[in-house]
This record gives sequence, C-alpha cells and structure tokens, in this order.
Amino acid sequence: MRTRFKNDMGYSDVTPKSAWLNRRDLLKGAGGASIAASLAGIADGAVLEASKSIYSTDEDPNDLEDITSYNNFYEFGTGKGDPARYAGELTTKPWSVVVDGMVGRPGTYAYEDIVSGVALEERIYRLRCVEAWSMVVPWIGFELSELLKRVEPSPGAKFVAFETLVRPEEMRGQKSSFVLEWPYREGLRLDEAMNPLAILAVGLYGEEMPNQNGAPIRLVVPWKYGFKSIKSIVRITLTDFQPPTTWNMQAPGEYGFYSNVNPNVDHPRWSQASERRVGSGLFARRMETRMFNGYEEYVAELYGDMDLRANY
Ligand code: MTE
Repeated sequence: MRTRFKNDMGYSDVTPKSAWLNRRDLLKGAGGASIAASLAGIADGAVLEASKSIYSTDEDPNDLEDITSYNNFYEFGTGKGDPARYAGELTTKPWSVVVDGMVGRPGTYAYEDIVSGVALEERIYRLRCVEAWSMVVPWIGFELSELLKRVEPSPGAKFVAFETLVRPEEMRGQKSSFVLEWPYREGLRLDEAMNPLAILAVGLYGEEMPNQNGAPIRLVVPWKYGFKSIKSIVRITLTDFQPPTTWNMQAPGEYGFYSNVNPNVDHPRWSQASERRVGSGLFARRMETRMFNGYEEYVAELYGDMDLRANY
C-alpha cells in the first residue's frame, strides 16, 4: 500500500465526521479488504490509503470533534483546548526523523521516505489517558516494527527512545520550561516496540494527522497510558539502556517507564479502576478500566512474571 496525498490541505480542510461516516458505509458496502478505492476521489482533503485491521475494536469511534478538540499536547499549553487552538502554528512540512544509536542504517529520513512502501492500516484503538478519561480513535498508521526492521537494530539493542521536536517559536508551551523539560521524550523496550499493536500513526479518520494529535507522525501504544504515545516525533534512538522519559523524570513516584494500563494499580492521587469515555455528554459514561486497556491477549506475554503491581 502506498500513501496517497491528494494535495497539501491542512487541518482546516479535514472532512467532518458525517462525510467520513458516509464514506465508511461505502467501504462496508464495498466489502473489500482495502479502504483505498472507495476513499480515493471522494474526499477533497489529503486522503490516506489504508486497509482494515484485525486489531481494530468494533466499538464506535469518538467524533472527529472530540478527538481533535480535547487533547493533551503540552508543547501548546496545558489546557485541553490549547492544542486545537495553537497547534496550527506548527509547520509540519517538510519533516524528517533522525534514526540513530544502535542501528545498522542510521540517518535522517524524510517523512515521505518513511511512509513510502509501508502498509498503512486503519487501527481503531481505545486510548486510555492516565488522567482516567478515554476515547476510541480510528488511527491510520503502520507497525513500528516495519520501520525498526528497515533500520536494522544492532544485536545489543534493547530499548527504543523517541523525541518530539523543540521549536518554541511555533510551540508556545515550550517558551516556559517549568511545565515540562523539553523535548518530550518517551521510550519502549525493543520487544514492546516490535509488538504488532505498536504503530506509528500518520492520520486519523482516513486523513492526514491533525496537528493537535501529533502531526505528521506519532506513536500509538494502546495498552499503555496515553502519555507513552508521543506526538510529532523527530528522533528515534535505539539503546542498550532504559531511556529517560518525560513524565517519569517529572514525577517518578506517579508515572513509571512501563505504564501499562492497570485497573489494580491506582495513581497515588486517583483511582485507575474506571474511566470516563469522553463525549458521552452530561451523563458521561463511566466504564471499568480493563487490564492492558483490553489488549491483554496480545501483550501480556511481554511481561512474563514481572510484578505488574510494582511495575507501574
Ligand atoms: N506527546 C507530546 N509530545 N506532548 C504531550 O504533551 N501528551 C500525551 C500523549 N503524547 C503528549 C504527547 C498524553 S498525556 C496523551 S493522553 C496523549 O498524547 C493524547 O493524545 P491525543 O491528544 O491525540 O488524544
């Protein structure tokens, strides 16, 4: 599958959810494995070709409105509405990602080269924020393992570190350093990164990634708390040591390196046993939080007999 960028339209041109739903019905009607044919030519935005995935949940996705207006992206401010308000100030083209550390093929890879030739899929995943709210998001992306295999991890590599860009002139939250230390950093163990559920997402609702959701390329690891899913990535480094990560450095007693969703381990200041599904209106739907955010069958084996209670 190839990425199809029909043109260079930005977020303001993203198709409303109603239009997307119509297209989705078309897809269902088409019944094929590929979403591409039905999407191509219908939308006037930047359309991404993608196929459906066995890993998608059949839960209803949140509205495009919810997904793009209720965000955490501290580079643009700490309010939930700040990313929608200010992320448009970020230039995402051109974009490149430095891949370095313990790899056979280090380099600076242009975004277009990263996505050309990868198998884009729609992954409808639950996203569980550590703050106890959740959403369902129809991401478009590809397995992180595809990129890692292409850059050839060295035999001793054990972890993957990620960094978001630092550009205070376009990311107003970065003008203050007492919010967080920049760049925002995250990391995974290499075997976690190779798990098929871990994706690099380049879009949602069938179109290019809105800036507030981490354009042009972000990580999505659905069995971990949302803060692991780092946005707007500019560096990927393979290491043989556990890399420092932003929230863990900020408050080590509250946010661990692993941070697997776990209803049995409360945050020191609130319960993690249940969550509020964003967008359920006045009578917000509270639901029980599931171990590994419901992805236990795919990821539990990564942790063997690790003490998951201690290992927040
Ligand atoms: N990535 C960066 N660079 N900066 C951030 O502040 N916030 C994280 C994560 N990735 C964050 C980030 C948190 S706390 C969550 S819950 C998710 O992004 C939210 O993703 P969404 O806004 O697309 O729902």
